[in-house]
Amino acid sequence: MNEFKKHVVDIQNEAFALLAKVKTEADLNEIEIRFLGRKSEFNALLKSLKDLSPEERQTVGPLVNVVKQEMIKAFEEAQQKMKLDSIDWEKERLDVTAPGVKLPEGHLHILTQVQREIEDIFTSMGFDIAQGPEIETEFYNFDALNVPEHHPARDMQDTFWIKSKEGQERLLLRTHTSAAQVRYMQTHTPPFRLMVPGRVFRNEATDTTHEHTFSQFEVLMVSEDANVGNLKYVAQEFFSRFFKTEVKIRLRPSYFPFTEPSFEFDISCMSCGGETGCSACRNNGWLELGGAGMVNQNVFVNAGYERNRYQGLAWGLGIERLATMKYNIPDVRLFHSGDTRFLSQF
Ligand code: DAH
Repeated sequence: MNEFKKHVVDIQNEAFALLAKVKTEADLNEIEIRFLGRKSEFNALLKSLKDLSPEERQTVGPLVNVVKQEMIKAFEEAQQKMKLDSIDWEKERLDVTAPGVKLPEGHLHILTQVQREIEDIFTSMGFDIAQGPEIETEFYNFDALNVPEHHPARDMQDTFWIKSKEGQERLLLRTHTSAAQVRYMQTHTPPFRLMVPGRVFRNEATDTTHEHTFSQFEVLMVSEDANVGNLKYVAQEFFSRFFKTEVKIRLRPSYFPFTEPSFEFDISCMSCGGETGCSACRNNGWLELGGAGMVNQNVFVNAGYERNRYQGLAWGLGIERLATMKYNIPDVRLFHSGDTRFLSQF
């Protein structure tokens, strides 16, 4: 009986002595198997408990259990200690006062930024901002704008046509944001002030100033007495705010089927103020910007308005063009290049 107890205590002492010296994980595992494993001496002792008389079992049983728990605990502690000892604390040292590492962070594409800036200026002047579909019908892109089939003006814009079935309305990728004009007019009654930004598409070769996919914004103001003076004023106000310097507007006669009269409009060069001429304006003081005009009455009729009831002024121009001017970007193809060296500059 006492022998049994002594045996148990001896095993425990031996295990503890080894654990106190253990250095490697492999040794630790070996010790654990030797003392607590299925084939261990200790386990054999546990099994032999059943051969003792019930009284003996009552006094020895609790002791064996306590020893077992203590050994398990000692192994766990040795394991934990080994883990902590293996850490290189010098490496783990953390300087909480060191400056943080800035994570790379995305931002809006430069064209989106410019478009939003344009939207903000027009919103502040009381304009409604609307959208039109990029896949458009032949009607809204051409016919409604007074450009019937076979009209030579259709050749002004090389079009990506979408294959359609016999008898179905012909679809295309809109060639200009002007396509949104009649859509808007059909659901609104003048007076209104409208600005439509968006992507447009032309089936053209690309070069430093041309892309097959680019962006425009359309301006349309309709009321009973809108006039060319309003057009000049709104344009001057917009460009002065956009370029953050006073600019003058110059209108030159031009032709668009959807306006009468039609203009090409220029702004005074921001670099030299239009006075002297410089490299930015190729020495002529003015920069060509886009098309404009007074809405052709045929367009109003196509929208369902009574002829000569309203007057409208309209203009449309490229957003990339404005962005390249404002930020001195040498090639429009950079915008859609996906080159982060370019994009991250803005
Ligand atoms: N839609 C024309 C183009 O893309 C530009 C334009 C000219 C728009 C005159 C207008 C306008 O609203 O009145 O070439």
